[in-house]
Amino acid sequence: MHSIRRPGIDRRSLLAGSASLVAAAAFPRSSRSGTAPVREFALVAAPSRVSLVGPPYPDTDVWSYNAGIPGSEIRVRQGERLRILVENQLSQATTVHWHGVRAPNAMDGVPFLTQKPIAPGEKFVYEFEVPDAGTYWYHPHHHSSEQVGRGLSGALIVEEIEPPAVDRDVVWVLGDWRLARDASIVSDFGNRMEVTMAGRIGNTVTINGRVSETISVRAGERLRVRLVNAAPARIFGLEFRDLRPLIIGLDGQPVEPREPPEGRVVLGPATRADVLLDMSGKPGATAAVLDTFYRDLSYKLVDLAYSSEPPVRAGSLDPPARLRANTMPEPDLGHAEKYTATLEGGMMSGRGMMMGMGGHGMGWSINGVAASGHDMAPMITLSRGRSCVLAIRNETAWFHPIHLHGHSFRVIARNGQPTRDREWLDTVLVPPREGADIAFVADNPGDWMFHCHILDHQDGGMMAVIRVA
Ligand code: C2O
Ligand code: CU
Repeated sequence: MHSIRRPGIDRRSLLAGSASLVAAAAFPRSSRSGTAPVREFALVAAPSRVSLVGPPYPDTDVWSYNAGIPGSEIRVRQGERLRILVENQLSQATTVHWHGVRAPNAMDGVPFLTQKPIAPGEKFVYEFEVPDAGTYWYHPHHHSSEQVGRGLSGALIVEEIEPPAVDRDVVWVLGDWRLARDASIVSDFGNRMEVTMAGRIGNTVTINGRVSETISVRAGERLRVRLVNAAPARIFGLEFRDLRPLIIGLDGQPVEPREPPEGRVVLGPATRADVLLDMSGKPGATAAVLDTFYRDLSYKLVDLAYSSEPPVRAGSLDPPARLRANTMPEPDLGHAEKYTATLEGGMMSGRGMMMGMGGHGMGWSINGVAASGHDMAPMITLSRGRSCVLAIRNETAWFHPIHLHGHSFRVIARNGQPTRDREWLDTVLVPPREGADIAFVADNPGDWMFHCHILDHQDGGMMAVIRVA
């Protein structure tokens, strides 16, 4: 049903470990304003050329932040204030959205809704505090399908005041590209067929901007792997063979440390998972990481290759403690306002045959409205401080990762059944014909996007505005 091609033109060695790759070229400087220390960063969005696949394939023309794929990692500490100067050297307008960060509305980076797009040659300064620790990311919110699809994204890491003890804290930004045989990006963005199906799923998967055959690890070490799905449409389902991964955070928010359901870490587009890996194998061994999300299209993402060095420690470590909770207010379910968001549209597939479109011109809709991104009237208006329960109903034949800006929400039920962990997320993956009920306190004033993060679906109308007045 999902028409995708097998990823990987070729797989070759990634010589450097991911940790060294992410220690990139952001150049933080410190100053003070008010009470919180201010950390300054600069991001230049511009075309560049990078090696995604590696020799003998040529480099790939991409659009990137600070000439790297992924863009410079922004790493700060909980409670700090960020000032980020964004310079647009692309040939089209752009914005930057800080996905998952509960920033003030004016800093949210949504064109026409929260700011004017940053025209080519122009600059914009984003400034906000990061109230919550966790794994976040940043990406454009203008022509998102093409701009993210050509490489614009980066990790935004907010460290805990007291981080958990690990030997290494690494970030894997997962990318998905549609490349031609010469490793150039195929430019068929927004093609109608894909927009109304699973979205633009590529044929080449990268970790931190490289097709990776092996990543080196050391026996006995404990890794915190921050997984970020920066793909425009691909869903990942990662299995860590021979290891017992423990999820300690989802979308930046702590969860009770636990093994992933069915041994698979599922990451919808835009979602993150913090995974603790105890490297329990022997020096010289390898442990495969597979992506088994799409049935019959499983592939090996990477091999974790143990160095020949002796184990870091004898014996095993204690199980990790739960990370300290972030600062979200608890929704009051007894007095919450209740709303429904019904997702419709897209191709229906029946017995392998495509059976026409949803009834909406642009392909996708929420509560019957296919939004254009301009002059969007709010779908819901909440008064500030009110609790809200929103029942998301997916009436389509496709997965949708649904993202709310400016807030994290608890997933309180799926298909009418209470969830076990009531996890806090900012993007919830809703399978075909299923539902998810989310709850949050509308405590951040402004007009907030609520949309599918399969970027072709967003462009195709699956977005709305929730106003907190
Ligand atoms: Cu990750 Cu509306 O965005
Ligand atoms: Cu969608």
